[in-house]
Amino acid sequence: MLSQLRADIQAVKDRDPACPSTWSALTNYPGLKAVRWHRRTYWLHGHGFVWLARAISQWVRHRTGIEIHPGATIEEGFFIDHGMGVVIGETTIIHRNVTLYQGVTLGGTGKERGKRHPTIEEQVVVGVGATVLGDITIGRGSKVGAGAVVIHDVPPNCTVVGVPGRVVVREGQRVEAIDLHHEDLPDPVVEMYRVLQRRMDKLETRLARDEASGDEQGTSVFADKVESDSQEGE
Ligand SMILES: CC(C)(COP(=O)(O)OP(=O)(O)OC[C@H]1O[C@@H](n2cnc3c(N)ncnc32)[C@H](O)[C@@H]1OP(=O)(O)O)[C@@H](O)C(=O)NCCC(=O)NCCS
Repeated sequence: MLSQLRADIQAVKDRDPACPSTWSALTNYPGLKAVRWHRRTYWLHGHGFVWLARAISQWVRHRTGIEIHPGATIEEGFFIDHGMGVVIGETTIIHRNVTLYQGVTLGGTGKERGKRHPTIEEQVVVGVGATVLGDITIGRGSKVGAGAVVIHDVPPNCTVVGVPGRVVVREGQRVEAIDLHHEDLPDPVVEMYRVLQRRMDKLETRLARDEASGDEQGTSVFADKVESDSQEGE
């Protein structure tokens, strides 16, 4: 218990250069407060005091802005920086020395029962506002970029960014992005409007040219051209 507390305090001091002392870590860090309370609610939850554990965790949420379900398994050296808006679901497993920033959700997809929250392996860093959903594993030493939404397993020592999350760095090497640009598939209706627009532009230019020349003959040439163009288009 004491060694766990020491490791949690050390995590704050190691990972936040702005933390000047143990006293400051204990008193000024909502992340550490939430984790310390979680150690107690976890015990209560495991010993059948489910309602009490939940009630305390809700009170802690009110105090710190961090909601950790009492059932979540969290090993030592866990650091939540800033904290506000962090949600950690019931069946989440967090291994040693993990760091989360504010606004991180470790949640379920809403479709599963049983183990339905992520497993976060050692030394993982999850950036501000990132969302990790479902019973997936974020491999040891990986980084989840700020704002990413991760719904598939991430291998160890990777960097995953974006929505949906994709691996951009693996074992220190850049991963070539496969850019399928699904959003750029051709839309046949839009394409048809473009063809019509181009055709109208062409005709208007011709009409303007013929009108400018003031030539009676020009108008009839224009009429002939329109007729021949429309036959081509059919
Ligand atoms: C992802 C992160 C950890 C950087 O990891 P990294 O392994 O050093 O990766 P790089 O910086 O080399 O970036 C790799 C690529 O991902 C992109 N990228 C980095 N972070 C990104 C993010 N959050 N969202 C989208 N793309 C991102 C980079 O632009 C780069 O793309 P490129 O190859 O086209 O230039 C970092 O950008 C991040 O998001 N950290 C979170 C920090 C945080 O939450 N701080 C809160 C303080 S209060």
